[in-house]
Amino acid sequence: MFNQEVKIIDLPKIVDSRGNLSFLEGEVHIPFDIKRVYWIYDVPGGELRGGHSFKKQCEFIIALSGSFDVILDDGAVRNSFHMNRSYYGLFIPSGIWREMENFSTNSLAVVLASTFYDADDYIRNYEEYKLTKK
Ligand code: TYD
Repeated sequence: MFNQEVKIIDLPKIVDSRGNLSFLEGEVHIPFDIKRVYWIYDVPGGELRGGHSFKKQCEFIIALSGSFDVILDDGAVRNSFHMNRSYYGLFIPSGIWREMENFSTNSLAVVLASTFYDADDYIRNYEEYKLTKK
């Protein structure tokens, strides 16, 4: 159905002198149906989030405010994405190791997820993750 690769997706942006507006619809602008939304905020300077991959969950991360870096690792290559605009996001398919760091003061990261919360969907150990890629 959709190409399940890591990618930055530009969102609609309605520019208006009263203030800009962006939006997204599941399965229209991002390649999955949204089951859950969570957000990360009040991150103290220097803290790291993430450090896991998901067996099934896909996600889409937007910097609604401020900035942060998302580090992705597919078991072979690591890439860093600097997120600092609210009119695009990063699509991450399942099976990718993901870390988040370098949060600016007052940054707000929203994560749209394709699954309900399931602790068993996480792989939290990098060595274990690497083994799944063999
Ligand atoms: P976690 O996903 O480990 O955060 P991060 O990867 O950003 O460091 O989640 C932190 C805690 O919050 C963990 O105890 C599980 C809980 N949690 C939920 O209960 N529901 C959720 O939807 C999420 C994302 C986390």
